[in-house]
Amino acid sequence: MGSTDGHKQRCDILKQEGLVVWLTGLPGSGKSTLAEKLEERLLSMNKFAYVLDGDIVRNGLNSDLGFTDADRNENIRRVAEVAAILKDASVITIVALISPFIKMREFARTRTGDENFIEVYVKASLETCIERDPKGLYKKAISNQILQFTGITSAYEEPTHPDLIIDTEKLSIKESSDMLTTFVLKQIDKLKK
Ligand code: ADX
Repeated sequence: MGSTDGHKQRCDILKQEGLVVWLTGLPGSGKSTLAEKLEERLLSMNKFAYVLDGDIVRNGLNSDLGFTDADRNENIRRVAEVAAILKDASVITIVALISPFIKMREFARTRTGDENFIEVYVKASLETCIERDPKGLYKKAISNQILQFTGITSAYEEPTHPDLIIDTEKLSIKESSDMLTTFVLKQIDKLKK
């Protein structure tokens, strides 16, 4: 990691502390949409934010990984390490990963440091996610064309103590995004003190 002095200089240049906003939830719950909206809104306020999205990271850094439990753990471990590095570089890092296992989400929190980590549960019932099925993957999973699919043939462990729950079944995209942005801005303010 960068030197301590360097850290302060980077914070001064960007006028912000690094932060990791970790969005977890079932496929189709709205993680990527909310991550993009949050990034857009923070950038429009001159806050330096960057999204790490499972679908994108899996095309590059993690293109050697599949969806066994072991591969998911490795996927999350690598993203957690990258997020911790970006946080150290003073970036507001928004992670959108199913990250189905409590143990690995705890790992991510530990690597970043508790104060600079927000776990957000993007919540929607399995029934709703199956109905939404934005990529048609639930349909394939239900007909056994995709194996080890989260919610169908692979587990999702709900967060027990998330910092924020966003119920995308009850809230519109705009309401969900407002709620997330307000919460993150409060956290950013707290870090300044
Ligand atoms: S995680 O479980 O390792 O955290 P990640 O968020 O990176 O998953 O990737 C999820 C994305 O991969 C989904 O948005 C979906 O498009 C795609 N995908 C392909 N196969 C699967 C599968 N078996 N289970 C879940 N997602 C899958």
